[in-house]
Amino acid sequence: MLGRPKRRLGAVRLGAPRRRFGWPTSLAGFILILTIGFAFALQLAGSDQETDRGPDTNGRVELPAARTHETELGELIYRRRSVRDYTEESIGIEEASDLLWAAVGLTVDGVTGPTRAAPSAGATDPLVVYLSVRRVEGLEPGVYRYLPEDHELAPTVAEDRSAQLASAALGQGAVRDAPVSLLVTADYGRTTGRYGDRGERYVHIEAGHAAQNANLMAENLGFAGVMIGAFDDGEMQAAAGGIDEDPLLIVPIGRAK
Ligand SMILES: Cc1cc2nc3c(=O)[nH]c(=O)nc-3n(C[C@H](O)[C@H](O)[C@H](O)COP(=O)(O)O)c2cc1C
Repeated sequence: MLGRPKRRLGAVRLGAPRRRFGWPTSLAGFILILTIGFAFALQLAGSDQETDRGPDTNGRVELPAARTHETELGELIYRRRSVRDYTEESIGIEEASDLLWAAVGLTVDGVTGPTRAAPSAGATDPLVVYLSVRRVEGLEPGVYRYLPEDHELAPTVAEDRSAQLASAALGQGAVRDAPVSLLVTADYGRTTGRYGDRGERYVHIEAGHAAQNANLMAENLGFAGVMIGAFDDGEMQAAAGGIDEDPLLIVPIGRAK
């Protein structure tokens, strides 16, 4: 007759069969599964990003053709090229005025007072622009500091310094030959005083804004220029008349050959 097996004397009752994994290993397994799931989710998110950028994935949006020639600004941006060879033609003082104004000149009253042609972090205005004059009708050769508030030039050197500037710029012919060069320099303290180390980044960004404004104005006037970043700082400061500000860019401008 079937029934509960009789316990034999001395037999040891076995408990429930031992599971192959006890609770500590189960927990580890659970964590492992969680980790794998999380990693997988991350990978999916990552592949979403790739979808945005990647060449062969879905979700790309075809843009209408940029209207490069339908606005004056579009045309100027489209036409801009770095030009390093210039004719012997002079530029006029009116054009020099336009170039300087476009870089850091005053525009309208902003929230923090009269604002400038190029944006400045917190309107700290760290940039100081000098004009190196070789051949400008209405201006003696030399180097001048641009004073945006008065829209005036204050001479720092009363002789042509384009050769010395070119030498500071590792002999680059564009700096030697251009009728005019903008020297974009900065007083970092104005911006780092408010923003600390991060202010340095802002100053560099602003130098690009100002220089590109001048570059596009040059295009607008039928001239062309190039950004020159390769130069010896000390030599450049000496050539400009022993200026204190830190040099960031030289922008020679002239009529393209
Ligand atoms: C920060 C910066 C520094 C540059 N420095 C020099 C330079 O020292 N000499 C030079 O001939 N070109 C210089 N260039 C110009 C680049 O070589 C030029 O922009 C690049 O070759 C692209 O050509 P594009 O301006 O005609 O589009 C500089 C450009 C930038 C933005």
